[in-house]
Amino acid sequence: MENLITKLREGRLQPGAGIVFGTHRPNTAVRTSFDIDALTKDYQVGTKASGEPYRYIIKTYGCQMNEHDTETMAGLLQAMGYRPAKEDAEADFILFNTCAVRENAEDKVFGEIGRLRPLKTRNPELVLGLCGCMAQEKGVQKMVLEKFPWVDVVFGTHNIHRLPQLLTNARHSQETILEVWDKAAETVEDIPKARKDHIRAWVNVQYGCNKFCTYCIVPYTRGAERSRLPEDILQEVQQLAADGVKEITLLGQNVNDYGVDLGSVTFAKLLRQVNDVDGIERIRFTTSNPWNFTDELIQALADCDKVVEHIHLPVQSGNNQILKRMNRSHTREFYLELVNKIRTAIPGVSLTTDIIVGFPGETEEQFLDTLRLVEEVQFDNAFTFIYSPRENTPAAKFPDDVPLSEKKARLQRLNEVQYAISLAKNQALAGQVVDVLVEGESKTNPDVLAGRTRTNKLVLFQGDVGLTGQTVSVRIEQPKTWTLMGTLVERPEGVLA
Ligand code: SAH
Ligand code: SF4
Ligand code: F3S
Repeated sequence: MENLITKLREGRLQPGAGIVFGTHRPNTAVRTSFDIDALTKDYQVGTKASGEPYRYIIKTYGCQMNEHDTETMAGLLQAMGYRPAKEDAEADFILFNTCAVRENAEDKVFGEIGRLRPLKTRNPELVLGLCGCMAQEKGVQKMVLEKFPWVDVVFGTHNIHRLPQLLTNARHSQETILEVWDKAAETVEDIPKARKDHIRAWVNVQYGCNKFCTYCIVPYTRGAERSRLPEDILQEVQQLAADGVKEITLLGQNVNDYGVDLGSVTFAKLLRQVNDVDGIERIRFTTSNPWNFTDELIQALADCDKVVEHIHLPVQSGNNQILKRMNRSHTREFYLELVNKIRTAIPGVSLTTDIIVGFPGETEEQFLDTLRLVEEVQFDNAFTFIYSPRENTPAAKFPDDVPLSEKKARLQRLNEVQYAISLAKNQALAGQVVDVLVEGESKTNPDVLAGRTRTNKLVLFQGDVGLTGQTVSVRIEQPKTWTLMGTLVERPEGVLA
């Protein structure tokens, strides 16, 4: 097996081998630059007998990391000669880029894979693939091999650059090709991405997570924290600016840990460097952890004019005992003090958070601490979840006497409180003129344009689609819980109505 894996990794394995591969463990994280041509040259698909190109669809679940990985995989597929498909029936390759963070995300994927089975009968050339965080779970690998054998290829989060070869092997194999690495062997640079958006772009600054919150599967699916080199990040941002991108979002599970593994650079220093790149107008980042949100970072946020006034700062719970059992490394008091420091340093900052209700054994009183914290902080928005036990995480073994019906009721109570706060915060903007970076037509209503404020509020207004990519002034007229309806008050020079 080792021999076969070595051959496969070195690109010496010929298509058609039809081998099921197990997990293996590369353990040195080196940074490798890959030439896209080298990655794809042996795996060109050409065209079908009809002269039509081969087509792909990637179905993406989960966080921005996954959205961004999808752009990388789309880049690889396009370099192989694949083109995007508009619908499942037209696709020759359907890939599920999955999320494992909660059980319902996983259930959705298995449901979809089941639903697509008949397509395989109709189109024997169709290849089905599963990648992303679910693929890293041993239980999922076993389940796919045993219960969903019509899935042709499974690979993980650490070897997405191997997609061209794995897909080629899968096309010629009768058996499921499974190649999942336990650890990242290399931080792969330079794979061109087929980015969805030309105005906003995601930029990875860090992969993995070392925090091991007891409920969370991410450290297991994404591996240890690894920072990209600042020069690689800056080069990417400079290229994006040259391509006309206006807003970048720096991505990592704990961006404020950025650089700890490199030694010479901090996230604050990186932000200052990125802030100096001409052409970029807005810099966002996600996610930051309250625990090591340093004064140096707060100062950098206050100083850097392009860094927006929005911080996503997941609190998870307002109760210290629960936070301790979550291994969150911050207390309620620490969090509240941090919020004060941030609000003092960055006037008008909008704060959003993540909250889990129904953690194993959470009492009514402990839940009320969360509600009280939400009332006290007055978040602009919160992503709220019912605790979902995850395979092999410590919390999955904690005793839990809270019935699901009670957890659901708590989620609803929390949401009611937060929705009212979100609405009140938005209503306070009525009549104000805000800067909106126009993203294009609204996805839900093509009659209006959509864009965001620096504080990440979605604004809808009427205007010419030619304004896309520009920052315009909009007066907020009808604030709602999730959106702000407004009217354009100023057009940039040279743009006609
Ligand atoms: N790195 C980020 C979070 C990434 S996961 C951070 O630490 O802030 C996104 C969110 O999913 C988490 O903030 C948490 O609220 C939620 N989450 C993670 N694991 C969960 C689980 N097992 N059940 C319910 N929600 C969970
Ligand atoms: Fe999960 Fe905690 Fe890491 Fe966030 S910091 S990804 S919640 S382990
Ligand atoms: Fe989900 Fe993986 Fe992101 S588990 S939240 S897709 S890191």
